[in-house]
Amino acid sequence: MAILITGGCGYIGSHTCIEMLDAGYDIVVIDNYYNSKPEALRRVKEISGKEFPFYECDIRDAEGLRKVFSAHKIEAVIHFAGLKAVGESVREPLMYYDNNVAGTVVLCQVMAEMGCKRIIFSSSATVYGTGNPSPLKEEMPTGAVTNPYGRTKFMIEGILADLCVSDPEWSAVLLRYFNPIGAHESGHIGEDPNGIPNNLMPYISQVAIGKLQKLSVFGDDYDTPDGTGVRDYIHVVDLARGHVKAVGYALEHNGVEAINLGTGVGYSVLDLVNAFKSANSVDVPYAIAPRRDGDVATCYSDPAKAAALLGWKAEKNVEDMCRDTWRWQSQNPKGYDE
Ligand code: NAD
Ligand code: UD1
Repeated sequence: MAILITGGCGYIGSHTCIEMLDAGYDIVVIDNYYNSKPEALRRVKEISGKEFPFYECDIRDAEGLRKVFSAHKIEAVIHFAGLKAVGESVREPLMYYDNNVAGTVVLCQVMAEMGCKRIIFSSSATVYGTGNPSPLKEEMPTGAVTNPYGRTKFMIEGILADLCVSDPEWSAVLLRYFNPIGAHESGHIGEDPNGIPNNLMPYISQVAIGKLQKLSVFGDDYDTPDGTGVRDYIHVVDLARGHVKAVGYALEHNGVEAINLGTGVGYSVLDLVNAFKSANSVDVPYAIAPRRDGDVATCYSDPAKAAALLGWKAEKNVEDMCRDTWRWQSQNPKGYDE
């Protein structure tokens, strides 16, 4: 019996492969390499000291998926495969609905056909939209999203919930990630964004290494302690371990559950800049810039449900997140392109 990991070559997927292997699971990985490189999985194998099957396969390719499900006995799927750039989703909405929403529908159709009805889905805190106060709890209303990327996550949550209603054999765990940052402790795998990063932590680390000149801090007039945006940053290895727990849960329970994966603690942009500087003894020049469209002032989780249902809580602190990001960035200034 094995767990299929879609998008397992990407940032969160590669870290999850390691934690799943360490926990003793057999895994099978598929990815279409749209936003990742084979080198990531080569390093996963090196770090874990284990081999596993990989297929270059698109989740929209039903025939390709059938071959994978026929070759292996798949008990459950961890579904990371998806596109995630907010700005790009505004410019290319159909590409996002096709890849993320239609792709998930094809995946679930093949799963049902092959008798595998357990899925752990990568959702996002973005589904809480703009109307809810932090700490964000799973029972709060969702759907007031500000962009097509967020809408794909909201739509897929609804599709998986409908599936669980239609057939009580289905189990769907909707993991709502807060802000994953950091890298594996080894420094061998981490986030390798294409082009100029959109997200704060990869931007900070590329400024620190001199690839980018200075960070623009998007707004210092929010209603927060220092005026800059507050987020719930979570170490990617903690997040990966949350998936191991979620697989255990999905194997034992049917029905749908949305579960936050966050620390429950908010840090401002300037908190993170200062933590990065002091953890790594590097400089991070920055300038205050206008607010970014679609940003909220504050977003952090109530992580109680993950503790209660999964027995999981984040263990790493912001210093670990900054130190591990820098180890990856400084050892791999060109990402996986060495
Ligand atoms: P990533 O881009 O590093 O990984 C996604 C992987 O999926 C990539 O390797 C990509 O090549 C693959 N992929 C994309 N479309 C595919 C398709 N049609 N068929 C097969 N493979 C495909 O992203 P990540 O940061 O590891 O995110 C993983 C998941 O978590 C995504 O669904 C993302 O939306 C979600 N998520 C990420 C964050 C974040 O901050 N990184 C936050 C919330 C949710
Ligand atoms: C963003 C996305 C969200 C997605 C998440 C993970 C938007 C509006 N939201 O979340 O949908 O799920 O990434 O991919 O894009 N910041 C700066 N300067 C920068 C970059 C960011 O000041 O160069 C600030 C932002 O204003 C924010 C904080 O840093 O206050 C975190 O930003 P980011 O890392 O992009 O994450 P989110 O906006 O929380």
